[in-house]
Amino acid sequence: MPAEIAQVADFSQIRYAQCWEDADILLSALDIQPAHICLSVASAGDNTLAMLSRSPKKVIAVDLNPAQIACLELRVAAYRQLSHPELLELIGSVPAAPAARINLYRRCRSHLSAASRQFWDERPNAIATGTGSAGKFERYLTLFRRYILPLTHSRDKIAQILKSLTPEERQTFYTQHWNNWQWQLLFRLFFSRFVLGRFGRDPSFFQYVQAGVAEHLLERTRYALTDLNPAENPYLQWIATGQHLTALPCALRPENFQPIRANLDRLEWHCTPLEDFLETSPIPTIDRYNLSNVFEYMSPHNYHRVLEQLIRAGRPGSRLAYWNLLAERRRPESMANRLRPLTELSSHLYRQDKAFFYSAFILEEII
Ligand SMILES: C[S@@+](CC[C@H](N)C(=O)[O-])C[C@H]1O[C@@H](n2cnc3c(N)ncnc32)[C@H](O)[C@@H]1O
Repeated sequence: MPAEIAQVADFSQIRYAQCWEDADILLSALDIQPAHICLSVASAGDNTLAMLSRSPKKVIAVDLNPAQIACLELRVAAYRQLSHPELLELIGSVPAAPAARINLYRRCRSHLSAASRQFWDERPNAIATGTGSAGKFERYLTLFRRYILPLTHSRDKIAQILKSLTPEERQTFYTQHWNNWQWQLLFRLFFSRFVLGRFGRDPSFFQYVQAGVAEHLLERTRYALTDLNPAENPYLQWIATGQHLTALPCALRPENFQPIRANLDRLEWHCTPLEDFLETSPIPTIDRYNLSNVFEYMSPHNYHRVLEQLIRAGRPGSRLAYWNLLAERRRPESMANRLRPLTELSSHLYRQDKAFFYSAFILEEII
């Protein structure tokens, strides 16, 4: 079964140079154990590597986009070759001179496959500015930071909202200083389905979306700025400042660097659609799945077919974790005797989701 999305969207460039999905809730949901074999959508590599920090028997990463595999490979090489502070410089979590980043890349490049080496060799600018900014989605966020945010709020106000405030102080600050008409108007325009589809994602990614896109994102951003703590939110910090200030995503935290590096030999990756991988590869039985929000790019019919494949490849007790951004995907009633939703846990984790734009976090267990 060829991937539906590959037929309508261009996958020759990096779409996501970072994984915009919260690995902390993913790891809490999956409860990965040393005997587990995990299958993970690669994206830019962050969450696949975060899974390695739990020392499972194996992590298999798949992605249909060779540019995303190049992102994963570069991260793997960086964990092998660089120190933790150097890794943060290469990605752009912290400032570094462009030449310094190029030098870091030179130390990594011999660990890349020929295809990924050629990919990165042809993109010195992406390396010089920090590889975490190199995707279409990150470029869209950069536009927001450079051209929209300054029209709505001063630098001081942006610094203030990212500070560690109490929940009450955050609510007051948001209501009295942040939620002005410029913010509401420009946010709605910039994150409209039309602008986001053209410049941030791909129009085809919205094929199965009905809800008001900007309205949903505005409400979720309010949640992240008030109910959650921006000082602990690396995703929000990157959107607002282009760096990680006081918080890092799971895979980039210092305490996870050595565990990930020590387990790199347990990781394998394949540049192939998930559907094809499940159909054609002699896969071992999978215990844990990180499925990003790939189902949202499929018709409900194809989603159900892939669920069937995942159930076949999993063992009883296997867990499937995935997100809904704007289209609803959860196992149909007709599969109730094969997949059990772990609703209480997933709802609890969704309330903590620091990558705040999603509309649901789904966790299901194979019966
Ligand atoms: C689904 S995207 C989601 C990114 C982010 N959550 C968002 O929606 O803004 C994450 C990764 O999935 C990959 N992907 C999408 N559909 C896939 C499929 N059917 N098989 C394998 N990888 C797929 C993309 O290439 C991308 O690297």
